[in-house]
Amino acid sequence: MSDQSHAPQHNPTGSEQEQMPVQEEASLHVEKWEGIWIRIAVGMTVVFIAAITVAALSFGITVPGATARINPATLNDPGSPFANPGIRELAPGKYEVYMVAQTWNFVPDRIEVPQGAEVTFYVTARDVIHGIKLAGTNVNMMALPGQVSTLKATFDAPGTYNYICHEYCGYVAGAPIGHHTMYGQLTVLAAEGTSETAQVTE
Ligand code: CUA
Repeated sequence: MSDQSHAPQHNPTGSEQEQMPVQEEASLHVEKWEGIWIRIAVGMTVVFIAAITVAALSFGITVPGATARINPATLNDPGSPFANPGIRELAPGKYEVYMVAQTWNFVPDRIEVPQGAEVTFYVTARDVIHGIKLAGTNVNMMALPGQVSTLKATFDAPGTYNYICHEYCGYVAGAPIGHHTMYGQLTVLAAEGTSETAQVTE
């Protein structure tokens, strides 16, 4: 900002007029603390991107994907994967669960899998917007009419995992609100050789 350092030395017109604004643009001046905060902001961005990358590659944390669209009026039609909601075994240890969220329950609301099971959840809503959070796992996504949301989880520890609707849902005129009653339970059965099947956690 000193006057001496910005004297108009190469003014093509030879004019002695002061042209400070034009000269100032020639060099980018960054204040000390501005520079520090720019470095901090860039550093935090790098850390966040690294954290997301590590989470995705090492911990299997992913953003719920909308794998498909589906007409909520046709969920019961023959041929619809949601016509018979529930669990299916695809291969030893690999399962898929088709689940319908509706006012005010999940179908199915009881699921059993063996220890170590890898389960892919496909969830849609029949009527209004719901959500599902499966405690102790990375399954936490919206259940939307017209959309199929999907996430995968692996169950290494035996026990009971509750799932709840986490979207305040469904006002039907004259009817009691049942959002708080909308939950289910997934039970992971201990592998043979252990006897922890009866161990249930809240
Ligand atoms: Cu369904 Cu809240």
